[in-house]
Order: sequence, then C-alpha cells, then structure tokens
Amino acid sequence: MKAITFQSVETLRFEDVPDAELVDDTDVLVGVRAAGICGSDLHPYFGREVGLDVGTVMGHELLGDVIEVGSGVTGFSVGDRVVAPFTTSCGSCFFCASGLTARCLRGQLFGWVEQGQGLHGAQAELVRVPLADGTLVSVPDGLDDAVGLLAGDILSTATFGADLAGVGRGDVVAVVGCGPVGLLAIVTALDRGAARVVAVDSVPTRLETAELFGATAVSFETDDPRTVVDEATEGRGADAAIEAVGSAAATRAAADLLRPGGRLAALGVHTEAHLALSPGEMYDRNLSYAAGRCPARRYMPASLELALRNADLIASLISHRLPLSEGVEAYRRFAAREPGWNKVVLLPQA
Ligand SMILES: NC(=O)c1ccc[n+]([C@@H]2O[C@H](COP(=O)([O-])OP(=O)(O)OC[C@H]3O[C@@H](n4cnc5c(N)ncnc54)[C@H](O)[C@@H]3O)[C@@H](O)[C@H]2O)c1
Ligand SMILES: [Zn+2]
Ligand SMILES: [Zn+2]
Repeated sequence: MKAITFQSVETLRFEDVPDAELVDDTDVLVGVRAAGICGSDLHPYFGREVGLDVGTVMGHELLGDVIEVGSGVTGFSVGDRVVAPFTTSCGSCFFCASGLTARCLRGQLFGWVEQGQGLHGAQAELVRVPLADGTLVSVPDGLDDAVGLLAGDILSTATFGADLAGVGRGDVVAVVGCGPVGLLAIVTALDRGAARVVAVDSVPTRLETAELFGATAVSFETDDPRTVVDEATEGRGADAAIEAVGSAAATRAAADLLRPGGRLAALGVHTEAHLALSPGEMYDRNLSYAAGRCPARRYMPASLELALRNADLIASLISHRLPLSEGVEAYRRFAAREPGWNKVVLLPQA
C-alpha cells in the first residue's frame, strides 16, 4: 500500500509499504478515506519529540470504511463508515470507564512505532485499528469525510479545552494560537456561550479565519492582546484562556491575559522541562492550570453532532484536500505555516 513514512527530521517519504493487516481478533482493517495532518505530527517532524522508528507510517487522524473485521468484533461490519480517535481505547478499563479514554491501560497512539512497538498511522491506504469496538465510532450519514474526520482529534480537543478552562456563558475567553486546534477552540467556546473570544497568533491568514469564526483576532507581533482583553473586561483580564501552541512563550502569553481566578487550559504538546509560571504567581493570582491529551473517544459522539450543526463553518477550516501522493509537500507547507495553509486533509482514495 502507499503511505507517508517518517525517515528523519523534516524528511518524510511517499512510498510502498507492506499492507496493514489484522493482528488480533479485536482488530478492524480500515480503508482510509480521509487522514489529517495535525500540528502534533509536526513535533516528530521537527524533532521536538524523538524516538519514532524510521519507516513509521505517519498520522493519527482517520476516517474510512471498514474493509475487514476480526472474529471478536461485534459492533462493526464491512462497509461501515467509521472515524477513530487518535488513540485506541478498550472501553472497559478504569480510565475508559471514567472517561479518560486517552489514558486507556491498553491504549496506543496511531502513527507512533518506537523500537518496533506501537501502531502505524493513518496517512496510508489502509490502517489497522486495534480494540475496534472500544475505539471506533460510526459516522452519521450526510457528514462530509473531511469534516467528520475532525471529530476524532481536533474538534474533540477544542471541546476538551473549553471544559478544562471551564468556559461558561458570558465568559471572555483568550485563545492563544490559531492553528487548526485554536481555530476550533473559538468555535467550541462560542458554542457554549462565551461572550467574547480574543484570538492570538501572528499568521495573517490564520487571524483572518479566526475573525471569520467569530473571534476578535490580534497579532501578537503588531498589537498587544492584553489591551483588547482589558477593553472587554473593564481591565480585569480574561475569565479563561485556551493555549493551543505548546511553548513556554504561549503559556506565558495565555497567563498574562487572565484575570485573578482565571483558568488556563493547555492543549499544546509541551516539550520544555518546566512550566513557564511559578507556583508563587499561580498563588498570588489564584490561577488554575490544566493540561493533557484529549480523551477524544469520550467526546466524539458530541463532536459529530457539533460537526453536523456547523458543517459549513468547520469545512471552511480545511484549506487543502490533497491526494496522498502530495502529502510530503503538504507537510512542508503546513509546517512552514504558509499563507492559507490552515488544515490539510489527505484523501488516499483520490
Ligand atoms: N491536547 C491534545 O490532545 C492535542 C490534540 C491535538 C493537538 N494538540 C496540540 O495542539 C497544538 C496546536 O495544534 P495545531 O494543529 O493547531 O498546530 P499548528 O502548529 O498548526 O498551530 C499552532 C499555531 O500557534 C501559533 N503560535 C506559535 N507561537 C505562538 C505564540 N507565542 N502565541 C500565539 N500563537 C502562537 C502558530 O503561528 C500557529 O498558527 C500542538 O502543540 C498540538 O500538538 C494537542
Ligand atoms: Zn492530533
Ligand atoms: Zn481502556
């Protein structure tokens, strides 16, 4: 099968690899219709996260058709259109039962094979989905492949961010980072009644999309986001901040926008050794900080409904729908944040 594979930092390859196949009787084999390129793929791409084996099939956002079913799978049949969260989940361990599906005791991240152990990813014609009954979700009819795909990762992550930040009706919310995750965090914050979202980035086309999605967009290169937040809050600061970058600078920026008692949700994947806030500052300003991998499987049913209700808006986030053969070049341009490269979805069957 054709796939996008990891070779070394900033080097991927579009190549033939052995077909994915069933291993355990609880597996399903999916023919991939849509596979996203996520900001999280950029961490191994740029070498911020290390350990990925050469030849690992990249990608953890996947929607497709069930083409083969293990004998122990009861919930899915050949031909079903399904979407997966970016990690597998058994559905029955302590963490799955309590909703923290991202920490399933048997969970694995798609697109991460290290020292021969792990799961290949979805930027391929076929992908093996272990623990299929606890992992996969059926896609409602009428939902576009590329939009439904987002329920398995970034749309659920955006809702998780609103939850972690305790976003409620009437809140003023700062969103730091207007990549695909931050842009959808604008949608989810407004969906749950935020009065105002101030969105911060420096990429002009991403800021334009943020405005389109209903935020007041501020470039941190040319303007001071705190001034904009102050105008909306009588100088208090934002009630909640959602950081969707993954850097000390972004943590700092988000904290600086909060009011005393404010809540900071860190969605970005961080690779620094220390938090950019001191315990003393958190005490003195009564700040809360919450972070973590989104338990996407738990959020997916609600995310699919949100996607149906906002299909056109969410579709407008997807700037590029490309065949798999153009995936390597697409990584380069998405990683470089070229103007207009908001969200890339690869279509292996195109
Ligand atoms: N928690 C989870 O489960 C989860 C799920 C998906 C993605 N993520 C993470 O979320 C982050 C965002 O993902 P994405 O796909 O949107 O990535 P992305 O790289 O496309 O977007 C990041 C954006 O942040 C902007 N940025 C950089 N520094 C900034 C700063 N100091 N202030 C404001 N903006 C700044 C960039 O210009 C860019 O537009 C990544 O770290 C990704 O790994 C986490
Ligand atoms: Zn992701
Ligand atoms: Zn589990």
